[in-house]
Order: sequence, then structure tokens, then C-alpha cells
Amino acid sequence: MKKLTRDNIDNIKPYEPGKPIDDVKRELGLSEIIKLASNENPLGVSPLALKAMEKSLADVYRYPDGNNYCLRRKLAQRFKVDIDNIIIGNGSNEIIELSVKTFLYEHEQVITSSPDFLIFKLATLQEAGKVIEVPLDNFYCNLDKIYEAINEKTKIIFLSNPNNPVGTYIEEGKLKNFIDKVSEDVIIFLDEAYCEFAKNISEYPKSLKYLSKPNIIICRTFSKAYGLSGLRLGYGIANKSLIQAMNKARQPFNVNMLAQVAGEAALDDDDFLNKTIETTEAGKIYIYNELNELGLDYVPSATNFILINVKRDADEVFKRLLKMGIIIRSMNAYKLNNWIRVTIGTQEENRTFIDSLRKIIKGD
Ligand SMILES: Cc1ncc(COP(=O)(O)O)c(C=O)c1O
Repeated sequence: MKKLTRDNIDNIKPYEPGKPIDDVKRELGLSEIIKLASNENPLGVSPLALKAMEKSLADVYRYPDGNNYCLRRKLAQRFKVDIDNIIIGNGSNEIIELSVKTFLYEHEQVITSSPDFLIFKLATLQEAGKVIEVPLDNFYCNLDKIYEAINEKTKIIFLSNPNNPVGTYIEEGKLKNFIDKVSEDVIIFLDEAYCEFAKNISEYPKSLKYLSKPNIIICRTFSKAYGLSGLRLGYGIANKSLIQAMNKARQPFNVNMLAQVAGEAALDDDDFLNKTIETTEAGKIYIYNELNELGLDYVPSATNFILINVKRDADEVFKRLLKMGIIIRSMNAYKLNNWIRVTIGTQEENRTFIDSLRKIIKGD
């Protein structure tokens, strides 16, 4: 029988998400689980978003607005851009996929850092494109080497800023130099999934000022600071012609009705956003201090997670924490063998994580 699957799909190594809470409960017979594996919001859902969804529940027998008009209008007002500069996605994951699907021919290439958000690679391979990976320079994005890697086949450069899984960011001046010198025939995709946690850092780029360029896509999400991961809601901001093209490549009803109303309400929930950022900052300081006491290195983070060197096999630490009811991420899959990535949780969750980690580190 002839092989049915396309080669590029056959060769993909599936994305492994953070382990779901219910799986761990079932597999280990535990009832209480702390999940610090997917950079979700420890405070839950924005209360205003929850109320908006409750109000819309009975309307879900209708199709959603395929133009996502109200949410786009609200985002446009917030960012002082035109509504046609915005596209809404089923998670920012869809914006990444759409950019590849819309702009990349099969013979063209994508450049990304290594490590960086794995979906950049996955989305490219799904469309049979080629991925060039440029190693980070001591945990920081190496824009010089990325620039050197550009050739006539390069179509998209994916930069997560701040970087997931590392947590570092590209400074304003460096990003500006890079954008200035890269040819406008190459799309620079700025994935700012964690920008809300970085926005008070003076050197963190204010990327919206590059919107007048024809080759910049900025991508953000409601999954992290706004606490709406389960709804799948993200957006892209770019030049109108890029947005128009991406709209042609998406499903007509790509974003569900509850996500649209929740996103709008979440944008009004300044209290929730501020509390999220405060909780994250306080948690980060607490964890940094405890790690210093334990003598463990970490990468200072501009996000809601921390990359930690546990000085032993990360898979082992992952398994031992799992048995204690704590889900984190081993970075072995990212070739960072002694490193784990931990989402900052509530203060109680952070304390439980640190107490459990201490037992592993001291008990060895
Ligand atoms: C850098 C980065 N980009 C994009 C995403 C995707 O987020 P979502 O599809 O939930 O909007 C994530 C999620 O972890 C991420 O870390």
C-alpha cells in the first residue's frame, strides 16, 4: 500500500504540552495537584471575563462573529491602531500557524532561536518549510548570528520576546538595529506572549512603533496575564496587507463566541491584570531568594516562569516532583538537561514547590 501521510508530517516530533492535572491525578492516585508547567495564571480567570461569558452562554447556538469585530475594535482603541491592523486567533498559536501558512513557500526557510517556542518549528514543518535554528548566546537571543543566517530563502524570523522557555528578552536598541537592517522581504514575527509581565522593564521594546514597517507581525495572547488559556484567544498586529492576507488563510469562524466576549471584558479588568503582575513579581522574588539559599542557578526572568539549574537530571527532578503532586517542565526536550522550567504560582503554591525541591536537593 502507498504511504498515505506526507513526509513532512511523518517527520514531525509531536509537541509535548505540560502534563494535564487530571492525567496526574489518575496515574498517581493523587487528589491535590499543583500545576506549574504551562505558564498559566495562578489567580484563575478574570472575574469580568467570567461574568461576560455567563451572560453569553445561552447565545452559543449562534455562530460567532467571524470578523471578531468588537474585540478587534477594543484592541485597536487600546493600541491606537486601525482595526484592520488586527487579526484574532484561536490562541496566539493560530497566529503563528497562519503566518507560516500565508507567507511561506515550501522551498523557503524560517529562522528561530534554539531553544525557543517549539510551535515556530512545528508550524513550519507542518507546511513543509525548512527551519534554521540559531543557538541562544548564554540564554540571550543572538541577533547577530540570526542576521548572518539570513539568505535568499529566508522568509520568516520568529523571535519570542521574552523568550519561552528561557525568560530573557531582547532589548529595545538591539531589536531596533536588527529591524532596521533586515530586508523588508523577510517577515520578523515578534511573539510577545509574556509582554504584560515585561512592560515595566525600561529596556523592553515598545514594538508597536514598528507597525508602519511592511514586514513586522506582533503576536500576543490572552492565555497568560489574562488567564484565558482554556478559551484559546490570541491576536496579531501588523501592516494591513499582511493582516488581509492572513485573514484569507484562516477559518471563517476561527474564534468562538465565549472567547470573544471574555477577551473584551478581560481588557477592562485592570484590577485582575495588576494583581496578576504583582503576584508574579512577588513570587519571583520569593523563588529567587530561596534558590539563592539552595545554591541553585537560575536565569533572571522577564516572564511568569523561571528556568532553574537543578544540577542533576531534570527528568528525574520532574518525576520526583510529580510524585509529590507538583507538575513542572523538564527542559531535557530542549537539550537543557539539568534545567527545569517552573511557572510562578500563588504564594502557597510557590512555597510548596520550594519545600519539595529543597527535599530533593538536600535529600540526594
Ligand atoms: C512564546 C509563546 N508564544 C505563544 C504561546 C501560545 O499561546 P496561546 O496559543 O495559548 O495563545 C505560548 C504558550 O505557551 C508561548 O509561550
